[in-house]
Amino acid sequence: MRPIVSGIDVGSPTFAANRDAAVADAATLRDRQQWAIGGGNGRERSIERHLGRGKVLVRDRIDMVIDTDTPFLELSTLSGYGQYDDAAPGAGIVTGIGMVHGVPWMFIANDATVKGGSLLPVSIKKHVRAQEVAEQNDLGVIYLVDSGGAFLPLQDEIFPDKDHFGGSFYRQARLSAMGLPQLSVVLGGCTAGGAYVPALSDEVIMVEGIGRIFLGGPPIVKAALGEIIEPDDLGGAALHTHTSGVSDYIASTEQEAYGRLREICETVNKRRIDDRQSWVDYAAPEPPLYDADELYGVVSADDRIPFAAREVIARLVDGSKFQDFKPEWGATMVTGFARIWGHLVGIIANDGIIFSEAALKSTHFIELCEQRRVPLVFLQNTSGYMVGRDAEAGGIAKDGAKMVSAVANATVPRYTVLTGGAYGAGNYGMCGRGFNPRFLFAWPNSRIATMSAATAQTVLVDIRLAGLKGADTTEEEIAAMRAEVADQYETQSDPYYATSRLWDDGLIDPVNTRDILGLCLALAARQDEPPAGRPLVYRM
Ligand code: COA
Repeated sequence: MRPIVSGIDVGSPTFAANRDAAVADAATLRDRQQWAIGGGNGRERSIERHLGRGKVLVRDRIDMVIDTDTPFLELSTLSGYGQYDDAAPGAGIVTGIGMVHGVPWMFIANDATVKGGSLLPVSIKKHVRAQEVAEQNDLGVIYLVDSGGAFLPLQDEIFPDKDHFGGSFYRQARLSAMGLPQLSVVLGGCTAGGAYVPALSDEVIMVEGIGRIFLGGPPIVKAALGEIIEPDDLGGAALHTHTSGVSDYIASTEQEAYGRLREICETVNKRRIDDRQSWVDYAAPEPPLYDADELYGVVSADDRIPFAAREVIARLVDGSKFQDFKPEWGATMVTGFARIWGHLVGIIANDGIIFSEAALKSTHFIELCEQRRVPLVFLQNTSGYMVGRDAEAGGIAKDGAKMVSAVANATVPRYTVLTGGAYGAGNYGMCGRGFNPRFLFAWPNSRIATMSAATAQTVLVDIRLAGLKGADTTEEEIAAMRAEVADQYETQSDPYYATSRLWDDGLIDPVNTRDILGLCLALAARQDEPPAGRPLVYRM
């Protein structure tokens, strides 16, 4: 593989302007993450109350469980951002991947300082998504339970449908049957449906004085049976460990519980993060030739100005080396092999509008990666597939469909990073959320929508005007229509709007992309080789 030779002038005014905008974006991201982590909107009071009860804050709990000096890859930190009157930082639940004795685990931990750890619609989505990531990446799940259960005022958005609360129990039972250990530490309330999180776990630890499990709490018992009973007598750690057997271990402190949990993790017989299986080609990692910080200056501050995919790749891959596949053809798609933290990958990156040739080249490259069993990384920055008479006459619909089919049916692990625009069907062809990549991360400059705000203004206003069938419409009315559409599209394509709704697994600072992908690839490398798929039918 040859190193990419960068053509970027790091001393140019354009580079400086891009860098200033991207550094500001990264600072905004950090501030908002800090808001989600540290409190805000009057949450200080519930944090104080939590600490006053001798309880540990949710992220400190995770820190007490994972191996010292190892990273925790938190997912969707900004879920819930800008929703629910901003009263649900992180949607009241922390999910992510951390190591225990060198084995990676998925953590699903309630944040009791947010609405008592009760589950809003987006919290359930986050819980279920974490279970999906666990399934795809062969991870056991550690549940740190401290929750008021379903957020009752929104019960219709939480309870009845597929992938609502019931879906999380369904998945938990099935994950256990797949051999993925399900372990719970009960650190607070587990009421009604919430009781099933520990009850469905393979092993359960309860902490005395704070952990409680009951199908109906004291108020319900009083109403139903006239019994007046203290919470600990109804569902405390002693009752469930000594009498009911719902819990397997009792701990007098959180510290003791996490020590016990780590002991349990030593016996689960799962592969360590460094236990690479032979199907994935691996070489000693080497850093890129170009500094990751330069990504800030590479990415255009103005999203209408394209930026070169190879310049991004040069700052992500080992030694900046890239085996460029078909570089002279289908130039708006960059495809080729590289290594990220030693793992061989096939990279597909947009470098302009997707024409037929670019779609065919991507399809060909995906087939190569399928045949060679090489994981795929999509760097998505697309305004979509080419439109217009020439493109249609050239069969862009069937060529785009070939690419979409190949992406949908690829059986090797797939990962997506939104580095810029994620518009139109191009988002699907580049392995958007609907195509089930193992992980999808987005940069803070990214935008996701059917089309850009600028295009939508024209399209939607033209459609409305056509509907008015020649009725007099003043220039002011047309301008107002345009402004309304632009406003809607700007709001809804904002990356914070997207991440709040879990359309991705989190916004990431571009400089961390290589490390995050490296960890994701290491998860796949410790799994068995995924079975190959059947031959596809391509429209010729
Ligand atoms: N639905 C909606 N809101 C809930 C909730 C739920 N299931 N559980 C807790 N909350 C809210 C409370 O209304 C309160 O909101 P506020 O901060 O806006 O006032 C906040 O969470 C904290 O609750 P609070 O009861 O003051 O905290 P606590 O630490 O003393 O007790 C629980 C926490 C979880 C033990 C307790 O709130 C509880 O028992 N909740 C109901 C459990 C239940 O019956 N769930 C049924 C699920 S199917």
